[in-house]
Amino acid sequence: MKIGVICGGISSEREISLRTGEAIFNALVKKGYNAVKIDMNRNIAEILKKEKIDFAFIALHGKYGEDGTIQGLLEIMGIPYTGSGVLASSLAIDKIMTKKVLLAEGIPTPRYITLNSQEYSSIKSLHQEIIQNLRLPFVLKAPREGSTIGIEFVFSEQELPGAIERVLQHDHQILVEEFISGIEITASVLGNDEPVVLPLIEIVSKTRFYDYEAKYTPGLSDHIIPPRISHELNLKITDLALKTYKALGCQGFARVDFMVDVQNHEAYVLEVNTIPGMTATSLFPDAARAKGISFEDLVEKILMLGLE
Ligand code: DAL
Ligand code: MG
Repeated sequence: MKIGVICGGISSEREISLRTGEAIFNALVKKGYNAVKIDMNRNIAEILKKEKIDFAFIALHGKYGEDGTIQGLLEIMGIPYTGSGVLASSLAIDKIMTKKVLLAEGIPTPRYITLNSQEYSSIKSLHQEIIQNLRLPFVLKAPREGSTIGIEFVFSEQELPGAIERVLQHDHQILVEEFISGIEITASVLGNDEPVVLPLIEIVSKTRFYDYEAKYTPGLSDHIIPPRISHELNLKITDLALKTYKALGCQGFARVDFMVDVQNHEAYVLEVNTIPGMTATSLFPDAARAKGISFEDLVEKILMLGLE
């Protein structure tokens, strides 16, 4: 069996995907698989045909990789692949669609509004809409990005116009959420029809927020396993992670990110990453390690789930 590790791509998370791809490729080779690394570009269909792969290990993040598009192409070409299918991928890449599914399933997620800049005459009118509908502080998000790209935290009204402008550089749509003050916890889920949740991780960032720099610079964030929360809250988050995974129809693996208000015993789902980072500083491999699963075994498990 020849496995193509598809990585790189043309999204804003290209650099992270190259790191994820390299780590996965090395793990597969170490396990004795016949693997080849494939950098995705617009000629991907031709490259896949030429390489004659039997299976695709998708190590792409963001647009054209994590959003259902490459999954659709692989379906048409009859090449089996890792992780979620077309629908779950395209729902999860879009934080607004994800929230709609979560709300329909009764899964808590921060209060929000959606703005389509094309429906507003100016940044001032976008500003007014936000102020009228939500309470400060806010988090503004480009809904289809990852790795904290296109995210702005807003603590005062004066910061809003600049934040709106910066988010609009990434997308014409803006997701505005109420900021939940609490701790950030992530749940790594593994499996197809009977998924399991790996040990939860509490994330402590040494920068002001768990942003791109904190995510990918060794030493700039701590992964605390187990999180410093009650057993009951741990169970609640685990249950919500499973419900979220199933509600979106995820397969293989995914990471569900939470903000947790410990005082009020509430956990809010922020988003689902259907191809979580697998770099040296990434969360998913750490969660697996905490359960005694080595990186190589984790990669092999994801491969096996894709072959089921
Ligand atoms: N979007 C990045 C890769 C993550 O969630 O890990
Ligand atoms: Mg994400």
